[in-house]
Amino acid sequence: MKVIRAKNFDEMSQITGDIFSAQVKEDKHSVLGLATGGTVVKVYGVLAQEYANGILDFSHIQTVNLDEYAGLDPTHPQSYRYYMEDNFFKKVNLKSENTHLPFGLAHDLEEECRRYERLIKSLGGIDLQLLGLGKNGHIGFNEPGPTFVKDTHCVELEEGTRIANARFFDCLEDVPRKAITMGIGSIMGAKKIVLCVSGSEKAEILKAVLSGPITPFVPGSILQIHSDLTVVADEEALEMLN
Ligand code: F6R
Repeated sequence: MKVIRAKNFDEMSQITGDIFSAQVKEDKHSVLGLATGGTVVKVYGVLAQEYANGILDFSHIQTVNLDEYAGLDPTHPQSYRYYMEDNFFKKVNLKSENTHLPFGLAHDLEEECRRYERLIKSLGGIDLQLLGLGKNGHIGFNEPGPTFVKDTHCVELEEGTRIANARFFDCLEDVPRKAITMGIGSIMGAKKIVLCVSGSEKAEILKAVLSGPITPFVPGSILQIHSDLTVVADEEALEMLN
């Protein structure tokens, strides 16, 4: 595991953007695993800027996102599809058919999970996976529990996760209770992983993730055994680690 200490949020975003940029330059057919949320939003800004500067070409890149809320239309401003279109997809030359997220309005959510799992496999797995970290240690929407779930699956969101994400909605009641998420197996199957963490409110959980016991009650702790993990965190997030 490699830990990169960034001075602040902007530097964390720049360093992470540079890692993704290098991947796109190295292999123009890369499969990028993507995340949403506040931590990673500027990473997309870095990549969009590099594209605007003529440095990057996404025309053969495939993207697979970690997760999507169940019950939200892709045009809903808080859906993860909308976030990705708004922050990244519409700003670069990704082909829309090469951008993949679970479909939160699927009638049969279990079948949608199986479809998504097949899709990831058909793309040959993920070359570089971007992750944020939930305050409860979740990665994707793999919430703490007694077991690690391997494949894409439906989850009941923890109340703490809904409260944390309520900042993006009008009120807590509007935050969906269910989501579809890639499983731990698909995430750990990525050839390379970058975990991005910012802010002192994540310091305690980051310490547990990187140096505590590996347990499904801290889902991100499984990352300790990934063979190519880079953690890019700002000083506040690293304040409980030496
Ligand atoms: C989002 C995702 C989540 C977030 C995590 C942190 O696609 O997979 O695991 O990365 O909830 O969210 P922020 O960055 O908003 O604190």
